Amino acid sequence: MKALLPRKVAALTLTCMKRHLYPLALAALFACTSTATRPSASTASQATLAATPPTTTASVTAAKAMVVSAHPEASRIGLEVLRKGGNAYDAAVAVQFALAVALPAAGNIGGGGFVLYHGADGQEGALDFREMAPASANRDMYLDAQGNVVPSRSTAGHLATGVPGSVAGMEALHKKLGKLPWAELVQPAVELAARGLRLTAKEAAGLNNNRENFLKYNAQTPPAYVRPDGQTRPWQQDDLIQYPDLVRTLERIRDKGRDGFYQGETADLIVAEMQRGGGIITKQDLQNYQAKWRTPLHGHYRGYDVLAFPPPSSGGVALLQMLQMLEPYNLGALGWHSPQGVHLITEAERRVYADRAKYLGDPDFGRVPVTQLLDQKYNKNRMATIRRDGRATPSSEVTAGVGLPGYESDQTTHYNIVDAQGNAVSCTTTLNGSYGSKVVVAGAGFLLNNEMDDFSSKVGVANMYGLIGGAANAIAPGKRMLSSMTPTILTKKGKLAMIVGTPGGSTIITSVMQGILNVIDYHQDAQQAVAAPRLHHQWLPDQIDAEESALLPAAQDTLQKRGYTIKTGSHWGRMEIIWVLPDGRLQGGADPRGDDTAVGY
Ligand code: DON
Repeated sequence: MKALLPRKVAALTLTCMKRHLYPLALAALFACTSTATRPSASTASQATLAATPPTTTASVTAAKAMVVSAHPEASRIGLEVLRKGGNAYDAAVAVQFALAVALPAAGNIGGGGFVLYHGADGQEGALDFREMAPASANRDMYLDAQGNVVPSRSTAGHLATGVPGSVAGMEALHKKLGKLPWAELVQPAVELAARGLRLTAKEAAGLNNNRENFLKYNAQTPPAYVRPDGQTRPWQQDDLIQYPDLVRTLERIRDKGRDGFYQGETADLIVAEMQRGGGIITKQDLQNYQAKWRTPLHGHYRGYDVLAFPPPSSGGVALLQMLQMLEPYNLGALGWHSPQGVHLITEAERRVYADRAKYLGDPDFGRVPVTQLLDQKYNKNRMATIRRDGRATPSSEVTAGVGLPGYESDQTTHYNIVDAQGNAVSCTTTLNGSYGSKVVVAGAGFLLNNEMDDFSSKVGVANMYGLIGGAANAIAPGKRMLSSMTPTILTKKGKLAMIVGTPGGSTIITSVMQGILNVIDYHQDAQQAVAAPRLHHQWLPDQIDAEESALLPAAQDTLQKRGYTIKTGSHWGRMEIIWVLPDGRLQGGADPRGDDTAVGY
């Protein structure tokens, strides 16, 4: 969330925006109630106070296959698997384990995630390897005797950890769809951990910023994450970091599959770590963990089929709701980040996040009204409540939609892969916060997640992303916490068109939507679309978060006069896009906010 947009990009952004100010005289033109129209050149002149997306480095293009991930080593390993005849699912397994080494802040074996796929044969699927609450978890476990949430109990340390799902997820993916032997896919990560990596400046800063937490939440100084005793200087760019304990854990996974993690030595080490630090995950919890195949959601946007992830992700439902709400409006003609466009997008976001807070949770533990939330009429009616004069609807006046038809109340790193056959994988995986719970399993060398914070610790109290949750997302043993992860695939006439996803906590859903709008409505190429500064509104707090240079000053002024609070400053997400060009070549965009890399052949 907090990483800085490279200064170079920010400067370019500013320069480009200054050069392309649209005529202010058209600012008054605003027709958000118009009937459905498609972006067209003839209406583009109506754009008012729209900004121009920044110039970026060129997208990477490839003829056949591509991997875009948050680390160059992981992208390289994925591509090698594809080159030697592995399919996209094989490459996903290799990339997942490579990221567990190369990107310890988010890549993981101690966390969980979602894989969405669309096969060249038209098959599709959604694999849920989200963490689960341990059997002895309970609804009030993060509250004190007065019923107040105890700060940081759900966000750091052993009690914050859900039962990890990544290794089970990768095994389930490989069993169903993989081609190459499992051991061949884990081996590159073993070698990477043994050989070690030279830290980038961002990685060195990440480790240094978390030094105090690593020391606080681990009984012994965790080797590889904190510089060894006696070496008092902080981590620096190009320092070599090696993971000897993790090598042995990955070898066990390579040789025994999920049993190398959920049973035997790794399981013993996890449970011993839990007992040392007051955590509650038991051997039984580990053995019981199951990844689940779920049915993907389908929606439409401007002629594309949108394949999205179902609950326990909130991302797919929310994304499809927002796209439904926005499709009737000619966003392209209004212009990128024009006040009019921002008004429409923000009002859709506000309403959808209010629904998220009330209705969404683990579908295995209560009915989630997905069909009702994706009802066209419902979303049309929700959008009918936005103000015609372009002014903000205060969030205090927006509640979760009532009268859902037939509903009775009961209650982050991302990678994209396409192989030469056209199989596509979109995977978001996470420890939740940066470096998760900050707990490294002693002797096993990997970080545990702090995913329990994605439950609502108490109804109405915000989690670390400021998200309010309801009873549908209360803690219960064996339950999966609601997620915002939004791995997404677009197809047209059955053919792959786009793969997109990002980390970013609560901002994931709005970022993925902006990635789609940037390409489809604003005609940006993949690299521009991931690099472009983003905006975000999540109902509560009632504010638009704006990355630097996302809005022209005059646009910001107009929005503020229309009742919007705008908070500029932070940066979020590491979005990856693969866009299929009309001639079939693949165009890759890797987010410049991180060390993300697109490679292909
Ligand atoms: O599942 C979720 O919604 C969160 N645990 C995702 C966390 C995340 O994206 C962190 N990245 N910035």
